[in-house]
Amino acid sequence: MLAPVRTGAALTELENEIGVPGAGMDRLRLMPTPFVPEVRLHLAEDAIVWWARMEASAGNALPAPYWASAWAGGQALARHLLDHPELVAGRRVLDLATGSGLVAIAAALAGAERVEANDIDPYALAAATVNARANGVTVVTSSGDLLDAPRPAADLLVAGDVFYTPAMTARMLAFLDRISAAGVEVLVGDPGRGELPPHRLSVVASYSVPTTEPFVDSPVRRVQVLRGG
Ligand SMILES: C[S@@+](CC[C@H](N)C(=O)[O-])C[C@H]1O[C@@H](n2cnc3c(N)ncnc32)[C@H](O)[C@@H]1O
Repeated sequence: MLAPVRTGAALTELENEIGVPGAGMDRLRLMPTPFVPEVRLHLAEDAIVWWARMEASAGNALPAPYWASAWAGGQALARHLLDHPELVAGRRVLDLATGSGLVAIAAALAGAERVEANDIDPYALAAATVNARANGVTVVTSSGDLLDAPRPAADLLVAGDVFYTPAMTARMLAFLDRISAAGVEVLVGDPGRGELPPHRLSVVASYSVPTTEPFVDSPVRRVQVLRGG
């Protein structure tokens, strides 16, 4: 059972953590993102080892630190936005399931008018905050599950690597269909984890992406950027 953590407490914890001197597998390090080197992120040398140390020190279970890895889907989507700034320039962008904040930061660097980063994990929102700061951009964070909420106040919704369980995929697709019909443009980055049905979304681009995520056989994944609606 996960103990509830408030976003402010998670931010303080992460700020303390990145200020600790020293190196090692159980540390976070500010590093260029492999496929998006113009964005630097605080990533774990080994997310599983970092997670184990934080749980041992907290004395309770903590959510899996998805935000401590550069997921292939997010990297491809961030690359796509930076290489096609016309997709975001002057627009309100919502990065759903932001994790490290990578896609949100790329949108801000590409000239978005306003960028919101949403996640259900308070540590992800803390990571998006410290990472936005490290890249000199402004990203507003929002907590809570938007998948059943009304149309978000955004022109473009972006989501990296969100089709990773059947339940998440079903909810996400229903949400994306609903907001596309309401006029929100949708772009996702998906490394083909077998959850997104083929031809369900339209392929816009395809990239070979180096990844730092745990439990992968290959250091490179083929990732599609797809359009919803
Ligand atoms: C695989 S990570 C991808 C993170 C990031 N988009 C990227 O590409 O690097 C999935 C993220 O989805 C978040 N998540 C899961 N369910 C969610 C929901 N209903 N609403 C918002 N975020 C959610 C998790 O907390 C996690 O940060």
